[in-house]
Amino acid sequence: MSSPYCISLRDVEAAQTSLQGLLHLTPILTSSSLDELAGHRLFFKCELFQKTGSFKIRGALNAVRSLVRAAQGDREQPKAVVTHSSGNHGQALAFAAKVEGVPAYVVVPRTAPLCKKAAICSYGARLILCEPTDESRVEVAAQTVQEKEGVLVHPNQDPAVIAGQGTIALEVLQQVPQINALVVPVGGGGMVAGIAVAVKALRPDIRVYAAETCNADDCYRSKVTGELTPNLHPPDTIADGVKTSIGPNTWPIIKDLVDDVLTVTEEEIQQATQLVWERMKLLIEPTAGVGVAAVLSEQFRSVSQEMKNICIVLCGGNVDLGSLAWLSPPGKEANGN
Ligand SMILES: Cc1ncc(COP(=O)(O)O)c(C=O)c1O
Repeated sequence: MSSPYCISLRDVEAAQTSLQGLLHLTPILTSSSLDELAGHRLFFKCELFQKTGSFKIRGALNAVRSLVRAAQGDREQPKAVVTHSSGNHGQALAFAAKVEGVPAYVVVPRTAPLCKKAAICSYGARLILCEPTDESRVEVAAQTVQEKEGVLVHPNQDPAVIAGQGTIALEVLQQVPQINALVVPVGGGGMVAGIAVAVKALRPDIRVYAAETCNADDCYRSKVTGELTPNLHPPDTIADGVKTSIGPNTWPIIKDLVDDVLTVTEEEIQQATQLVWERMKLLIEPTAGVGVAAVLSEQFRSVSQEMKNICIVLCGGNVDLGSLAWLSPPGKEANGN
């Protein structure tokens, strides 16, 4: 039977085969002090240790390899790959294009963290700056595709990207089969959609939660209204990886297969991020702190009473150290004590 969605479990499994041996099998770490705070046994899938510093390389490399493989059949080799990204997908696409020998052009909001812009350039891609709005990104990327005769690899709606991100779930199910729930930060929804397709096909007993900031809560509002409801204004959040809205390919999957959306405040994200730095010594970026904050929230406590083992995807570690003006001074505990 064909899948009602843009990808199926078979696409995620094919992505895993395609990426075999090219990426790190990221570890699962635990922390008894965070377990105590959350009231659950927590398992952290450490994608901050993934190549390029985030999970994004999974989708980007799967997409570029699919394009190159298709060209070996009847299609022409892509002249370039192009994307628009708040940073991590841009870095990932730059790295993937270098591995596959294809030129890359990355459209980035001019406000994106400096470390992310520098990393994109260091992988050999050309950086093209745009305004920090979804409309500007899309417009400038479309222009670049035309000028360079390139192929757009969308950061979160491209089916090959979504399938690549789903490989996180295949690893987690092998590494910690005892989990009852997975908590996944959501921006455009590529990661949570890929994970949900794999988890619900293989282990429908496991709950999948999306986590997002209240300041960019399009996914939450879409689930509540039952209609795709993008953010109206450019969101203001320290979790720069989740500023973007879910889209037409990820929404049907999120609507049907994601159990619930947990929203957290900026303060909760700051506290959770700092807590992971201090207690686990893991330099996660604030976007990864969104998932941790969600699990520590009252909202999660109320829905998770019967769940023992929770896996949180620590999705990235590309921290712009120069932008940490919000850090609490030494001596003041991140959990407010
Ligand atoms: C570190 C990090 N986490 C999560 C996300 C959100 O991923 P998605 O857009 O697939 O929902 C992003 C997106 O850029 C990211 O960079």
